[in-house]
Amino acid sequence: MTSLIRPDGPAKLTGRATYAADTQVPDVVYAALAPATVPFGRVVEVNLKAALDAPGVIEAYDHTNFVPMVAMQAPMLGHSVIPLQQDKIHYDGQPIALVLAETLEQAQHAAQLVTATYADTGTPLMFDQAEDIGPGGPQWIPLDAVKGDHQAGLAAADKTITAAYTTSDRHHSAIEPSATIAWWEGEEVVLHSSVQAAAMAQPVVATAFGVPAEHVRVICPFVGGGFGSKGYVWPHLLLAAAAAKASGRAVKLVMTRAQMFSLSGHQPATAHEVTLAATNDGKLTAVRHYGVNAAARVGQYYEATTSASTWLYDSPNIEVHNRIREVDRPQPTPMRAPMEGMGQFALESAVDELAHELGIDPVEFRIRNEPAVNPMDGKPFSQRSLVECLRQGAAKFGWADRKPGMRDGNDLIGWGVAVSTMPAFRMPSSARVRVGSDGHVVVETGMQEIGSGLPGMVQLVAGEVLGVDPADVEVRHGDSSFPPHSGTVGSISTGALGSAVQAAATEVLEKLQAQPGDQLGAMVDAAGLEFVDAEARWAPDEASGGYSIQTYGAVFAEVRVDEDLGLVRVPRIVAVYSAGRIINQLAARSQMSGGIIWGLGQALLEKSVMEPTMGRFLSRNLAGYVVPVNADIGSIDVSFVDEADRIASPVGAKGIGELGATGVSAAIANAVFHATGRRVRDLPIRIHDLL
Ligand code: MOS
Repeated sequence: MTSLIRPDGPAKLTGRATYAADTQVPDVVYAALAPATVPFGRVVEVNLKAALDAPGVIEAYDHTNFVPMVAMQAPMLGHSVIPLQQDKIHYDGQPIALVLAETLEQAQHAAQLVTATYADTGTPLMFDQAEDIGPGGPQWIPLDAVKGDHQAGLAAADKTITAAYTTSDRHHSAIEPSATIAWWEGEEVVLHSSVQAAAMAQPVVATAFGVPAEHVRVICPFVGGGFGSKGYVWPHLLLAAAAAKASGRAVKLVMTRAQMFSLSGHQPATAHEVTLAATNDGKLTAVRHYGVNAAARVGQYYEATTSASTWLYDSPNIEVHNRIREVDRPQPTPMRAPMEGMGQFALESAVDELAHELGIDPVEFRIRNEPAVNPMDGKPFSQRSLVECLRQGAAKFGWADRKPGMRDGNDLIGWGVAVSTMPAFRMPSSARVRVGSDGHVVVETGMQEIGSGLPGMVQLVAGEVLGVDPADVEVRHGDSSFPPHSGTVGSISTGALGSAVQAAATEVLEKLQAQPGDQLGAMVDAAGLEFVDAEARWAPDEASGGYSIQTYGAVFAEVRVDEDLGLVRVPRIVAVYSAGRIINQLAARSQMSGGIIWGLGQALLEKSVMEPTMGRFLSRNLAGYVVPVNADIGSIDVSFVDEADRIASPVGAKGIGELGATGVSAAIANAVFHATGRRVRDLPIRIHDLL
């Protein structure tokens, strides 16, 4: 198994890696936004006079004098509405004015001088987790799946549990705030923008301005963390491009940290009700999972939090239903890990509760309910080594020594386990591989490097196929003029881009009639050519549609709970994953550790409180919204089952970016129960839950 130190590391450490806002553009002017201060309604008048009179101000815009853009639908557009196009206000913080000035400070100062009067506003609709999961809740959305007869499953059971679980509103908190620098060259627009998917941004910008896609160039080699907040297209991109069009200047618009809390999505709070029933010998007879999430009234963003409940455990009767509650808030969006990050907390807590009721070890209980095929649709799994993950993880963790009443001084010690899983999202990707007569290998792809190590993955795959040293492969990425990659989103990249690179490199060999390891440069030279290249596009094939394709893992957590203070520490986590082929062990383990830390934040720290009269997230900085730091993290031991899933993708890889963030919060909550006897069903677990 290969481990490659990330090739992009030195550039990042020395500041040579250029992020959107770092790009040096001559004669750039600075934009700043003024926010709406009501949760919904209509802006009657925006007063721009003071802003226009402020030093350095070039121009100020509101909905009455801005460049018109073509409206379009979410989700490609993160917000279903483009700000500064009409008087309607859909959420607190919606931009109502944009100020352009010669310096950043002048723009920000002037934006603060903008005032407005509003009408048709009032008290915002709020998401009520306790009420919205019940029968009086909002309408269902069509994400239902039903097999068998739930009542029959209950009748056949010896033990049944029903419990409600909730997760909180959370924010992505990427280090790099979103930013765009835009300018027009005639009918063409160039954008340096922090986006996870240049290939998705390009058509959205083209639609908004009514120009052909090839007139839009989006450049973004590096993203300083996204976690979903830069997947869809958010207002900064369109506003910067429009301001550039209006002013004829290059415009730079960088989100403030506070704006990241309302203008780039968030993970919506969710509520769940899970019913599980089983016979005394630990065989499930019924699984039912209801899920509901908060959504913006204009947005309809849904979290399919119940999906894993259809494939994780064998049961003759399975039923899942989803709904959304539309409330007055900014638009939510996917956040690592969408769907299962929240859904697995509910399901995997409930599984622990039922195993406890039955007096069956929770690892053993899961193994007894391992399905042979997808229990909902009967499709074979492409590859699923969950039982191996559970067994290997239990052995590494020392699970056999688990007993009640463990303690160390004032600390109650608990051990918990939960399963991780994500659907394997698959989207198209493409790459061009070129071998020069000097033997130099270049791979070009529109891909964004987000911190996960994709350039190293590309080097390894190209190097393997061509039989060259990975370090000799140059990877150029992050420009919409390169072959498109769907996006560094949905954990798709290694499977999709890896397969595209593999195909393109194979084609180069075929063109040269070469074998891996041949002197390719000399062969190009001998053919009298400067270079030989090939471009390949990979997309999921039809045959793989006959399979149920997911990733899996087992997470074991130890917690220590201070008996007097209610403080939860997590000194160690052991996790084993089944995620197809792992192309770069080092980068993959690093990414899984990051995912586990992400899950720990969900379990113990992250909760964004919405103010109920203003419809506004109260904390809009990293002092008020707390994420894990090094001092919160103990030992994390990550390993992978050695396998390759060639049904999921020709390169054998499936995604891991999101997988690591699933199951962790349930493992920790289950460990807290084991330590304290307290079952906490609402995340995050806080001190007062344990006092
Ligand atoms: Mo993602 S949560 O598709 O970055």
